[in-house]
Parts: sequence; structure tokens; C-alpha cells
Amino acid sequence: MLDKIKALHAQIEAATAANGEEAEALRIKYLSKKGEISQLMADFRNVPAEQKREIGQAINELKNFATERINMLRDAAEAASACASAAALDLTRTPAPSAMGTRHPLSLVREEITSIFRRLGFSIADGPEIEDDWHVFSALNFAEDHPARDMQDTFFIGTSPEVVLRTHTSSVQTRVMEHTQPPIRIICPGRVYRNEAISARAHCFFHQVEALYVDRNVTFADLRQTLLYFAREMFGPDTQIRLRPSYFPFTEPSAEMDISCNLCGGKGCSFCKHTGWVEILGCGMVDPNVLSACGIDPEVYSGFALGMGVERIANLKYRVNDLRLFSENDVRFLDEFTAAR
Ligand code: DAH
Repeated sequence: MLDKIKALHAQIEAATAANGEEAEALRIKYLSKKGEISQLMADFRNVPAEQKREIGQAINELKNFATERINMLRDAAEAASACASAAALDLTRTPAPSAMGTRHPLSLVREEITSIFRRLGFSIADGPEIEDDWHVFSALNFAEDHPARDMQDTFFIGTSPEVVLRTHTSSVQTRVMEHTQPPIRIICPGRVYRNEAISARAHCFFHQVEALYVDRNVTFADLRQTLLYFAREMFGPDTQIRLRPSYFPFTEPSAEMDISCNLCGGKGCSFCKHTGWVEILGCGMVDPNVLSACGIDPEVYSGFALGMGVERIANLKYRVNDLRLFSENDVRFLDEFTAAR
């Protein structure tokens, strides 16, 4: 029996384990209930009485030795595998960027527009999206039967024809002029609503920026120079502008402004329908009727106003050809503006 104990001792001393499972296999082989050492203990019954002490001691020592050795092998195997996975980490790698939100393209464009006007001394004015007929239409010199009041364009709230969702940010002009005497120099960014079927080219809500300047001796030349400055700041120093006569109830004279096509530089391309020009905003000298309606004396003061669509400017800047992308919030679209200012 002592020989058997010695042989087992030698076996265990020579055993190795490459990983935790191999160490566990050793434990089962030697130390489990049916393992070799338990077997020795079972055979211990048959040992003659005079050898019991010596052999009993030898078995105990073997058991302790086996327990310690196998634990040691298991710990070493586990430590080695932890080291191996640490070695697989490349600590020099650039960390993966954490996903950051992006600015919405309409916010980028709105802020660019407002910052250009702020540099000219305009301050920001705000007004409600749910408006009354007076601020959206009547004070702005819309005749009673003007087609823009028609159900086609305007969303009415409830059954009253008086309460509407504003169809343009010109309503903020009315509100400011009612409460402020000139000089007035404001810019009004905001959302507007029109009863349009949603398509790539039209939406039932969109965004505008309105500008208004009222003071003594404000002339059409001031308007034109402001427009030129704006166009060049927004679209680059080579941009040309062109004013075409137009009609708006609240301005007289009224004009629409085109800029030289910023895609082909004015040479003509499919984007500008080979004209070299693209339309970007409406403008004009504030109609004296509007000044009077708001309590400003048109004999003393004059002013200019202009209004533009933010989506329109964003389309020119970023060539987004489907308006719906602006309100669907598809992350694949929004992510394209990560690098934008
Ligand atoms: N309110 C006009 C619209 O929604 C845009 C506009 C045109 C605003 C001329 C103005 C202006 O201030 O002078 O179509």
C-alpha cells in the first residue's frame, strides 16, 4: 500500500493543467468520492492494525498534498488565461467614439440666418403659433376676400374663423409694431402651418425667418444692401442678387429676391432650370396701411420687411431634395450633419 501511495504522489507531482477544466479533471480523478485517494481510504479498512498508524498518516499527507497541488494548478491555469486575454487588448488603439447627437440641419441654418442679421443689429422676436386673424391677416392689409384666408391654405382652430395656426411669421411683425415705437430692428424665426398635402416639395408645417426694420428714412436702398449682405454671408462672397417685382398685401413695393445659382455659379444648370438664378425670399417696403394698423405713423416712419423659408435655404445649402426628411428624424439623415458647425 505504501508503494501505491508513493506512486500516486509521484503522479500528482508530475500532473499539469493547461486550464481550469483540466485542473477540475485532476480533482475528480484523485479527490472526488470515487477518486483514487478515496479508494485508498476505503482500502484502509484491510490494513493490519500495526501498520494503521503509518499508512493512515501517509494517506492523509497524500490527500493534503493532492488538494494543495491541484488547487495550485487550477489557480495558475486561471491566472494564465486572464493574462492571455489581457494581452489580446490593444491599449494603443484609439477609443471608439461615443455616439453624440447632431444639430438638426434646420437649426443650423436658422442659427446661421439669425447670426447674420444679429451682426447687422437685429434682435430676435418671438410670437405664438396659434394666432388670431388680426395678427396674421387683417393688420397685414389682407383684403377680406384674399385667397390666402381661404381654407386651402389656413388651418383654423375650432369652428371660429378667428383663431388660426399662423401661416407666416409676418404675424410677429404685427405684434412687435403694436407694442414698440421705432426704431425697430427684429428678426423672427419660427414654425408656420399651411393646409397642404405632404409631399417631397410641400409640407403642412415648415419654418420661416422674418426680418423687419422700421425707422425714419428707411429706403429701398437699405433693403437692397441688407439683402446683398445677407446673400453673400450665407452663400459666399461671389453671390449676386436680383430683385423681381412681386405682390404681397403688406408691402409696397414688393419684390422677390433671386440669388445667382450657387451650384453652377450662375452659368445655368438643371437645379436652376438653366436660368442661372434661384428664388430665395420675398421682401418689400412695409405698406403704410400696416404701419397705421399697428399704431406707427407712416408720415414719420418707413420700413422694410423680408421673409424666407428655412427649408428652402437648407435645400440650397445642403441639397436635400425631399422636404419630408427634415421632420422624419431618420438618424441616418441627421448623422450626415455631424461635421456641420
Ligand atoms: N409672409 C410671406 C410668406 O409667407 C413672406 C414674406 C414676403 C414676408 C414679403 C415679408 C415680405 O416680410 O416683405 O410667403
